[in-house]
Amino acid sequence: MRHKIVLPLFGLAALSVASLALSQDQFRLKPGAKGKVCLSCHTEFQEKMKLPFVHTPVKAGNCADCHNPHTSDHEKFLAEDAGKICLKCHGGIVPGKAKSVHKSVVEGNCVKCHDPHASKYRNNLALDGNALCFSCHKGIAESVKGSKFGHKPVEKGCLTCHAAHASAGPRTSSRPGFPPSASDVTRRAVPPSRNST
Ligand code: HEC
Ligand code: HEC
Ligand code: HEC
Ligand code: HEC
Ligand code: HEC
Ligand code: HEC
Repeated sequence: MRHKIVLPLFGLAALSVASLALSQDQFRLKPGAKGKVCLSCHTEFQEKMKLPFVHTPVKAGNCADCHNPHTSDHEKFLAEDAGKICLKCHGGIVPGKAKSVHKSVVEGNCVKCHDPHASKYRNNLALDGNALCFSCHKGIAESVKGSKFGHKPVEKGCLTCHAAHASAGPRTSSRPGFPPSASDVTRRAVPPSRNST
Protein backbone atom coordinates (compact mmCIF):
# COMPACT_ATOMS: atom_id res chain seq x y z
CA MET A 1 0.00 0.00 0.00
CA ARG A 2 2.93 2.28 0.71
CA HIS A 3 3.45 3.09 -2.97
CA LYS A 4 0.13 4.91 -3.02
CA ILE A 5 1.69 7.46 -0.71
CA VAL A 6 5.14 7.48 -2.23
CA LEU A 7 4.22 7.75 -5.90
CA PRO A 8 2.10 10.91 -5.74
CA LEU A 9 4.92 12.57 -3.82
CA PHE A 10 7.64 11.88 -6.32
CA GLY A 11 5.39 11.37 -9.31
CA LEU A 12 6.85 10.71 -12.72
CA ALA A 13 10.27 11.97 -11.69
CA ALA A 14 10.74 8.93 -9.49
CA LEU A 15 9.57 6.63 -12.24
CA SER A 16 11.84 8.25 -14.78
CA VAL A 17 14.96 7.70 -12.72
CA ALA A 18 13.83 4.18 -11.87
CA SER A 19 14.29 5.07 -8.23
CA LEU A 20 16.53 2.67 -6.37
CA ALA A 21 14.37 2.87 -3.29
CA LEU A 22 11.21 1.48 -4.80
CA SER A 23 11.06 -2.26 -5.20
CA GLN A 24 10.18 -3.80 -8.50
CA ASP A 25 6.92 -5.20 -7.15
CA GLN A 26 5.63 -1.69 -6.74
CA PHE A 27 5.94 -1.23 -10.50
CA ARG A 28 4.11 -4.53 -11.06
CA LEU A 29 6.99 -5.72 -13.20
CA LYS A 30 7.08 -9.21 -14.57
CA PRO A 31 9.83 -11.34 -13.03
CA GLY A 32 13.21 -10.43 -14.56
CA ALA A 33 11.97 -7.22 -16.14
CA LYS A 34 14.73 -5.17 -14.52
CA GLY A 35 17.53 -7.33 -15.89
CA LYS A 36 16.78 -10.69 -17.48
CA VAL A 37 14.39 -9.16 -19.99
CA CYS A 38 17.09 -6.74 -21.14
CA LEU A 39 19.45 -9.63 -21.80
CA SER A 40 16.91 -11.36 -24.02
CA CYS A 41 17.49 -8.70 -26.71
CA HIS A 42 20.92 -7.39 -25.72
CA THR A 43 22.42 -10.81 -26.17
CA GLU A 44 26.02 -9.50 -26.12
CA PHE A 45 25.47 -8.99 -22.41
CA GLN A 46 25.05 -12.70 -21.86
CA GLU A 47 28.72 -13.00 -22.84
CA LYS A 48 29.71 -9.98 -20.75
CA MET A 49 28.13 -11.50 -17.66
CA LYS A 50 30.65 -14.36 -17.95
CA LEU A 51 33.67 -12.06 -17.59
CA PRO A 52 35.59 -12.49 -14.32
CA PHE A 53 34.67 -9.05 -12.92
CA VAL A 54 31.03 -8.10 -13.22
CA HIS A 55 29.97 -4.80 -11.62
CA THR A 56 27.78 -5.60 -8.61
CA PRO A 57 24.52 -3.89 -9.77
CA VAL A 58 24.90 -5.53 -13.19
CA LYS A 59 25.47 -8.91 -11.59
CA ALA A 60 22.30 -8.34 -9.56
CA GLY A 61 20.47 -7.70 -12.85
CA ASN A 62 19.57 -4.15 -11.89
CA CYS A 63 20.03 -2.55 -15.31
CA ALA A 64 17.41 0.01 -14.36
CA ASP A 65 19.68 1.34 -11.61
CA CYS A 66 21.48 3.23 -14.36
CA HIS A 67 19.26 3.04 -17.45
CA ASN A 68 15.80 4.39 -17.90
CA PRO A 69 14.00 1.61 -19.73
CA HIS A 70 11.64 3.98 -21.56
CA THR A 71 13.22 7.23 -22.69
CA SER A 72 15.90 9.57 -21.43
CA ASP A 73 17.40 12.99 -22.02
CA HIS A 74 20.80 11.38 -21.64
CA GLU A 75 22.69 9.26 -24.14
CA LYS A 76 22.36 5.47 -23.87
CA PHE A 77 19.12 5.95 -21.93
CA LEU A 78 21.12 6.79 -18.84
CA ALA A 79 19.05 7.78 -15.85
CA GLU A 80 21.46 10.62 -15.07
CA ASP A 81 24.15 12.64 -16.80
CA ALA A 82 27.01 10.31 -17.83
CA GLY A 83 29.43 12.35 -15.72
CA LYS A 84 27.34 11.97 -12.58
CA ILE A 85 25.70 8.58 -12.75
CA CYS A 86 28.48 6.75 -10.90
CA LEU A 87 28.41 9.26 -8.06
CA LYS A 88 24.83 8.23 -7.25
CA CYS A 89 26.32 5.24 -5.47
CA HIS A 90 30.02 6.14 -5.23
CA GLY A 91 29.72 9.64 -3.80
CA GLY A 92 32.67 8.98 -1.51
CA ILE A 93 35.16 8.17 -4.27
CA VAL A 94 36.76 11.57 -3.73
CA PRO A 95 37.17 11.98 0.01
CA GLY A 96 36.05 15.34 1.37
CA LYS A 97 39.53 16.03 2.64
CA ALA A 98 41.18 15.33 -0.72
CA LYS A 99 43.86 17.87 -1.53
CA SER A 100 44.27 16.84 -5.14
CA VAL A 101 41.95 15.11 -7.57
CA HIS A 102 42.82 13.46 -10.89
CA LYS A 103 41.49 15.56 -13.75
CA SER A 104 39.65 12.67 -15.41
CA VAL A 105 37.81 12.10 -12.11
CA VAL A 106 36.94 15.81 -11.79
CA GLU A 107 35.48 15.63 -15.29
CA GLY A 108 33.40 12.57 -14.38
CA ASN A 109 35.10 10.38 -16.98
CA CYS A 110 34.73 7.25 -14.88
CA VAL A 111 33.97 5.11 -17.92
CA LYS A 112 37.27 6.07 -19.57
CA CYS A 113 38.91 3.87 -16.95
CA HIS A 114 36.10 1.55 -15.83
CA ASP A 115 33.69 -0.53 -17.83
CA PRO A 116 30.30 0.15 -16.25
CA HIS A 117 29.20 -3.43 -16.83
CA ALA A 118 32.01 -5.98 -16.71
CA SER A 119 35.65 -6.49 -17.52
CA LYS A 120 38.36 -9.09 -17.56
CA TYR A 121 40.39 -6.85 -15.23
CA ARG A 122 39.86 -6.33 -11.52
CA ASN A 123 37.84 -3.28 -10.48
CA ASN A 124 36.16 -3.46 -13.89
CA LEU A 125 39.11 -1.57 -15.33
CA ALA A 126 39.19 -0.92 -19.05
CA LEU A 127 42.87 -1.84 -19.24
CA ASP A 128 45.29 -3.53 -16.88
CA GLY A 129 48.14 -1.99 -14.87
CA ASN A 130 50.25 0.75 -16.44
CA ALA A 131 48.55 0.22 -19.83
CA LEU A 132 45.56 2.09 -18.39
CA CYS A 133 47.67 5.12 -17.46
CA PHE A 134 49.60 4.96 -20.73
CA SER A 135 46.35 5.15 -22.71
CA CYS A 136 46.23 8.88 -21.87
CA HIS A 137 49.76 9.69 -20.68
CA LYS A 138 51.36 8.88 -24.00
CA GLY A 139 54.46 11.00 -23.39
CA ILE A 140 55.25 9.10 -20.21
CA ALA A 141 54.56 5.81 -21.98
CA GLU A 142 57.12 6.66 -24.65
CA SER A 143 59.76 7.79 -22.19
CA VAL A 144 59.26 4.77 -19.93
CA LYS A 145 59.35 2.29 -22.80
CA GLY A 146 62.24 4.00 -24.59
CA SER A 147 64.51 4.68 -21.63
CA LYS A 148 67.74 2.87 -20.81
CA PHE A 149 67.27 2.94 -17.06
CA GLY A 150 63.81 2.05 -15.84
CA HIS A 151 62.84 2.94 -12.27
CA LYS A 152 61.74 -0.30 -10.59
CA PRO A 153 58.64 1.12 -8.87
CA VAL A 154 57.45 2.50 -12.21
CA GLU A 155 57.70 -0.98 -13.70
CA LYS A 156 55.84 -2.31 -10.67
CA GLY A 157 53.06 0.13 -11.34
CA CYS A 158 52.12 3.79 -11.41
CA LEU A 159 49.86 3.13 -8.43
CA THR A 160 52.91 2.44 -6.30
CA CYS A 161 53.25 6.21 -5.94
CA HIS A 162 50.05 7.73 -7.34
CA ALA A 163 46.47 7.30 -6.24
CA ALA A 164 44.00 6.61 -9.05
CA HIS A 165 41.30 9.08 -8.04
CA ALA A 166 42.41 11.52 -5.40
CA SER A 167 44.94 12.01 -2.71
CA ALA A 168 44.37 13.26 0.80
CA GLY A 169 48.08 13.47 1.49
CA PRO A 170 50.00 16.70 1.81
CA ARG A 171 50.46 18.40 -1.52
CA THR A 172 54.18 18.27 -2.01
CA SER A 173 53.95 19.70 -5.48
CA SER A 174 51.24 20.97 -7.77
CA ARG A 175 50.68 17.42 -8.91
CA PRO A 176 47.28 15.93 -8.27
CA GLY A 177 47.32 12.38 -7.02
CA PHE A 178 50.69 12.42 -5.34
CA PRO A 179 51.68 11.11 -2.88
CA PRO A 180 49.14 8.41 -2.10
CA SER A 181 47.35 8.89 1.20
CA ALA A 182 47.49 6.35 4.00
CA SER A 183 43.91 5.34 3.20
CA ASP A 184 44.79 4.69 -0.44
CA VAL A 185 47.55 2.38 0.69
CA THR A 186 45.19 0.61 3.07
CA ARG A 187 42.61 0.24 0.36
CA ARG A 188 45.08 -1.44 -1.91
CA ALA A 189 45.76 -3.99 0.80
CA VAL A 190 42.16 -5.18 0.47
CA PRO A 191 41.87 -8.17 -1.88
CA PRO A 192 40.80 -6.59 -5.18
CA SER A 193 38.63 -9.45 -6.37
CA ARG A 194 35.62 -8.72 -4.17
CA ASN A 195 33.28 -9.06 -7.15
CA SER A 196 34.78 -12.16 -8.66
CA THR A 197 32.93 -14.64 -6.52
C1 HEC B 1 12.53 -6.25 -27.28
C2 HEC B 1 13.98 -6.10 -27.36
C3 HEC B 1 14.67 -5.19 -26.34
C4 HEC B 1 14.55 -5.26 -24.96
C5 HEC B 1 13.70 -6.22 -24.13
C6 HEC B 1 15.45 -4.24 -24.44
N1 HEC B 1 16.07 -3.58 -25.46
FE1 HEC B 1 17.41 -2.04 -25.28
N2 HEC B 1 17.46 -1.82 -27.29
C7 HEC B 1 16.80 -2.63 -28.20
C8 HEC B 1 17.07 -2.14 -29.55
C9 HEC B 1 16.54 -2.75 -30.85
C10 HEC B 1 17.91 -1.00 -29.41
C11 HEC B 1 18.46 -0.09 -30.51
C12 HEC B 1 19.57 -0.79 -31.25
C13 HEC B 1 20.88 -0.44 -30.69
O1 HEC B 1 21.20 0.75 -30.65
O2 HEC B 1 21.63 -1.35 -30.28
C14 HEC B 1 18.15 -0.83 -27.97
C15 HEC B 1 18.96 0.14 -27.43
C16 HEC B 1 19.31 0.21 -26.06
C17 HEC B 1 20.30 1.10 -25.49
C18 HEC B 1 21.11 2.15 -26.24
C19 HEC B 1 22.24 1.49 -26.99
C20 HEC B 1 23.15 2.51 -27.66
O3 HEC B 1 24.24 2.08 -28.08
O4 HEC B 1 22.81 3.70 -27.75
C21 HEC B 1 20.35 0.85 -24.16
C22 HEC B 1 21.23 1.51 -23.13
C23 HEC B 1 19.39 -0.20 -23.88
N3 HEC B 1 18.78 -0.55 -25.06
C24 HEC B 1 19.16 -0.72 -22.63
C25 HEC B 1 18.17 -1.64 -22.34
C26 HEC B 1 17.78 -2.03 -21.00
C27 HEC B 1 18.43 -1.52 -19.74
C28 HEC B 1 16.79 -2.95 -21.12
C29 HEC B 1 15.99 -3.62 -20.00
C30 HEC B 1 15.25 -2.69 -19.14
C31 HEC B 1 16.54 -3.13 -22.55
N4 HEC B 1 17.38 -2.31 -23.25
C32 HEC B 1 15.63 -4.00 -23.08
C33 HEC B 1 16.03 -3.73 -27.91
C34 HEC B 1 15.63 -4.12 -26.64
C1 HEC C 1 26.26 1.08 -12.92
C2 HEC C 1 25.46 1.66 -13.99
C3 HEC C 1 25.01 0.73 -15.08
C4 HEC C 1 24.33 -0.45 -14.97
C5 HEC C 1 23.86 -1.15 -13.69
C6 HEC C 1 24.07 -0.91 -16.31
N1 HEC C 1 24.60 -0.03 -17.21
FE1 HEC C 1 24.50 -0.13 -19.24
N2 HEC C 1 25.65 1.54 -19.42
C7 HEC C 1 26.08 2.32 -18.37
C8 HEC C 1 26.86 3.43 -18.87
C9 HEC C 1 27.52 4.51 -18.03
C10 HEC C 1 26.89 3.29 -20.28
C11 HEC C 1 27.58 4.20 -21.29
C12 HEC C 1 28.99 3.70 -21.50
C13 HEC C 1 29.81 4.60 -22.38
O1 HEC C 1 29.33 5.64 -22.82
O2 HEC C 1 30.95 4.20 -22.64
C14 HEC C 1 26.11 2.09 -20.60
C15 HEC C 1 25.87 1.61 -21.88
C16 HEC C 1 25.01 0.57 -22.19
C17 HEC C 1 24.67 0.12 -23.52
C18 HEC C 1 25.19 0.71 -24.82
C19 HEC C 1 26.31 -0.15 -25.39
C20 HEC C 1 27.54 -0.18 -24.51
O3 HEC C 1 27.91 -1.26 -24.03
O4 HEC C 1 28.13 0.89 -24.27
C21 HEC C 1 23.79 -0.92 -23.41
C22 HEC C 1 23.14 -1.72 -24.52
C23 HEC C 1 23.59 -1.14 -21.97
N3 HEC C 1 24.36 -0.22 -21.27
C24 HEC C 1 22.78 -2.11 -21.44
C25 HEC C 1 22.74 -2.48 -20.10
C26 HEC C 1 22.09 -3.67 -19.59
C27 HEC C 1 21.33 -4.67 -20.43
C28 HEC C 1 22.29 -3.68 -18.24
C29 HEC C 1 21.88 -4.75 -17.23
C30 HEC C 1 22.41 -6.09 -17.52
C31 HEC C 1 23.05 -2.48 -17.91
N4 HEC C 1 23.32 -1.80 -19.06
C32 HEC C 1 23.41 -2.09 -16.63
C33 HEC C 1 25.82 2.10 -17.04
C34 HEC C 1 25.18 0.99 -16.50
C1 HEC D 1 23.14 1.61 -8.23
C2 HEC D 1 24.37 1.84 -7.50
C3 HEC D 1 25.65 1.90 -8.29
C4 HEC D 1 25.95 2.72 -9.34
C5 HEC D 1 25.07 3.75 -10.02
C6 HEC D 1 27.34 2.46 -9.66
N1 HEC D 1 27.86 1.50 -8.82
FE1 HEC D 1 29.75 0.80 -8.80
N2 HEC D 1 29.29 -0.49 -7.29
C7 HEC D 1 28.05 -0.57 -6.68
C8 HEC D 1 28.10 -1.61 -5.65
C9 HEC D 1 26.94 -2.02 -4.74
C10 HEC D 1 29.41 -2.12 -5.66
C11 HEC D 1 29.97 -3.23 -4.78
C12 HEC D 1 30.08 -2.73 -3.36
C13 HEC D 1 31.32 -1.97 -3.13
O1 HEC D 1 32.37 -2.58 -3.08
O2 HEC D 1 31.26 -0.71 -3.02
C14 HEC D 1 30.13 -1.39 -6.69
C15 HEC D 1 31.46 -1.59 -6.98
C16 HEC D 1 32.18 -0.87 -7.94
C17 HEC D 1 33.58 -1.06 -8.24
C18 HEC D 1 34.51 -2.04 -7.54
C19 HEC D 1 34.53 -3.33 -8.29
C20 HEC D 1 33.25 -4.10 -8.10
O3 HEC D 1 32.55 -4.35 -9.10
O4 HEC D 1 32.92 -4.49 -6.95
C21 HEC D 1 33.88 -0.20 -9.25
C22 HEC D 1 35.22 -0.05 -9.93
C23 HEC D 1 32.69 0.54 -9.57
N3 HEC D 1 31.67 0.11 -8.74
C24 HEC D 1 32.62 1.53 -10.54
C25 HEC D 1 31.46 2.19 -10.91
C26 HEC D 1 31.35 3.10 -12.04
C27 HEC D 1 32.49 3.47 -12.96
C28 HEC D 1 30.06 3.53 -12.08
C29 HEC D 1 29.40 4.42 -13.11
C30 HEC D 1 29.42 3.90 -14.49
C31 HEC D 1 29.35 2.90 -10.98
N4 HEC D 1 30.23 2.09 -10.30
C32 HEC D 1 28.02 3.10 -10.67
C33 HEC D 1 26.93 0.16 -6.98
C34 HEC D 1 26.85 1.12 -7.98
C1 HEC E 1 42.31 7.46 -14.44
C2 HEC E 1 41.55 6.24 -14.38
C3 HEC E 1 40.37 6.21 -13.44
C4 HEC E 1 39.29 7.05 -13.42
C5 HEC E 1 39.01 8.25 -14.31
C6 HEC E 1 38.40 6.53 -12.40
N1 HEC E 1 38.94 5.43 -11.81
FE1 HEC E 1 38.11 4.30 -10.35
N2 HEC E 1 39.80 3.14 -10.23
C7 HEC E 1 40.90 3.29 -11.06
C8 HEC E 1 41.91 2.34 -10.67
C9 HEC E 1 43.28 2.18 -11.32
C10 HEC E 1 41.38 1.61 -9.58
C11 HEC E 1 42.09 0.53 -8.77
C12 HEC E 1 42.77 1.26 -7.64
C13 HEC E 1 43.76 0.44 -6.89
O1 HEC E 1 44.07 -0.67 -7.29
O2 HEC E 1 44.23 1.00 -5.90
C14 HEC E 1 40.04 2.14 -9.34
C15 HEC E 1 39.17 1.67 -8.36
C16 HEC E 1 37.85 2.08 -8.21
C17 HEC E 1 36.89 1.53 -7.27
C18 HEC E 1 37.14 0.38 -6.31
C19 HEC E 1 38.09 0.75 -5.22
C20 HEC E 1 37.59 1.91 -4.41
O3 HEC E 1 38.29 2.94 -4.42
O4 HEC E 1 36.50 1.85 -3.83
C21 HEC E 1 35.73 2.24 -7.43
C22 HEC E 1 34.43 2.03 -6.68
C23 HEC E 1 35.96 3.23 -8.47
N3 HEC E 1 37.25 3.11 -8.91
C24 HEC E 1 35.01 4.12 -8.91
C25 HEC E 1 35.27 5.19 -9.78
C26 HEC E 1 34.32 6.26 -10.09
C27 HEC E 1 32.92 6.36 -9.52
C28 HEC E 1 34.95 7.11 -10.95
C29 HEC E 1 34.44 8.42 -11.52
C30 HEC E 1 34.06 9.44 -10.54
C31 HEC E 1 36.27 6.55 -11.21
N4 HEC E 1 36.43 5.41 -10.47
C32 HEC E 1 37.19 7.11 -12.08
C33 HEC E 1 41.03 4.18 -12.10
C34 HEC E 1 40.15 5.20 -12.41
C1 HEC F 1 41.24 9.15 -19.53
C2 HEC F 1 42.57 9.74 -19.61
C3 HEC F 1 43.50 9.49 -18.43
C4 HEC F 1 43.89 8.29 -17.89
C5 HEC F 1 43.46 6.89 -18.31
C6 HEC F 1 44.86 8.60 -16.86
N1 HEC F 1 45.03 9.95 -16.78
FE1 HEC F 1 46.26 10.96 -15.48
N2 HEC F 1 45.63 12.72 -16.22
C7 HEC F 1 44.74 12.90 -17.26
C8 HEC F 1 44.56 14.32 -17.52
C9 HEC F 1 43.65 14.93 -18.60
C10 HEC F 1 45.38 15.00 -16.60
C11 HEC F 1 45.57 16.52 -16.46
C12 HEC F 1 46.94 16.96 -16.86
C13 HEC F 1 47.26 16.66 -18.30
O1 HEC F 1 46.54 17.12 -19.20
O2 HEC F 1 48.26 15.93 -18.53
C14 HEC F 1 46.04 13.96 -15.80
C15 HEC F 1 46.95 14.23 -14.79
C16 HEC F 1 47.65 13.28 -14.06
C17 HEC F 1 48.62 13.57 -13.04
C18 HEC F 1 49.06 14.96 -12.61
C19 HEC F 1 49.78 15.64 -13.73
C20 HEC F 1 49.92 17.15 -13.61
O3 HEC F 1 50.75 17.68 -14.35
O4 HEC F 1 49.18 17.79 -12.83
C21 HEC F 1 49.07 12.38 -12.54
C22 HEC F 1 50.10 12.17 -11.45
C23 HEC F 1 48.36 11.34 -13.28
N3 HEC F 1 47.51 11.92 -14.19
C24 HEC F 1 48.54 9.99 -13.07
C25 HEC F 1 47.81 8.99 -13.73
C26 HEC F 1 47.90 7.58 -13.40
C27 HEC F 1 48.78 6.99 -12.32
C28 HEC F 1 47.05 6.93 -14.25
C29 HEC F 1 46.73 5.45 -14.28
C30 HEC F 1 46.08 4.92 -13.06
C31 HEC F 1 46.41 7.92 -15.09
N4 HEC F 1 46.90 9.16 -14.74
C32 HEC F 1 45.47 7.64 -16.08
C33 HEC F 1 44.10 11.90 -17.95
C34 HEC F 1 44.23 10.54 -17.70
C1 HEC G 1 58.49 6.22 -7.68
C2 HEC G 1 57.25 6.90 -7.56
C3 HEC G 1 56.49 7.16 -8.86
C4 HEC G 1 56.02 6.24 -9.75
C5 HEC G 1 56.13 4.73 -9.66
C6 HEC G 1 55.32 6.99 -10.77
N1 HEC G 1 55.37 8.32 -10.49
FE1 HEC G 1 54.50 9.82 -11.58
N2 HEC G 1 55.33 11.20 -10.35
C7 HEC G 1 56.06 10.93 -9.22
C8 HEC G 1 56.48 12.18 -8.61
C9 HEC G 1 57.30 12.33 -7.36
C10 HEC G 1 55.97 13.23 -9.43
C11 HEC G 1 56.10 14.72 -9.24
C12 HEC G 1 57.31 15.20 -9.97
C13 HEC G 1 57.52 16.69 -9.78
O1 HEC G 1 57.07 17.25 -8.80
O2 HEC G 1 58.12 17.27 -10.71
C14 HEC G 1 55.24 12.57 -10.50
C15 HEC G 1 54.58 13.24 -11.52
C16 HEC G 1 53.79 12.65 -12.49
C17 HEC G 1 53.03 13.35 -13.50
C18 HEC G 1 52.99 14.84 -13.73
C19 HEC G 1 54.33 15.32 -14.29
C20 HEC G 1 54.65 14.79 -15.65
O3 HEC G 1 55.77 14.27 -15.82
O4 HEC G 1 53.80 14.86 -16.55
C21 HEC G 1 52.35 12.41 -14.23
C22 HEC G 1 51.40 12.66 -15.39
C23 HEC G 1 52.73 11.12 -13.70
N3 HEC G 1 53.60 11.29 -12.64
C24 HEC G 1 52.27 9.91 -14.19
C25 HEC G 1 52.82 8.69 -13.83
C26 HEC G 1 52.54 7.45 -14.54
C27 HEC G 1 51.61 7.32 -15.74
C28 HEC G 1 53.22 6.47 -13.90
C29 HEC G 1 53.34 5.00 -14.30
C30 HEC G 1 53.98 4.76 -15.59
C31 HEC G 1 53.94 7.09 -12.78
N4 HEC G 1 53.66 8.43 -12.80
C32 HEC G 1 54.70 6.40 -11.85
C33 HEC G 1 56.34 9.68 -8.73
C34 HEC G 1 56.07 8.48 -9.34
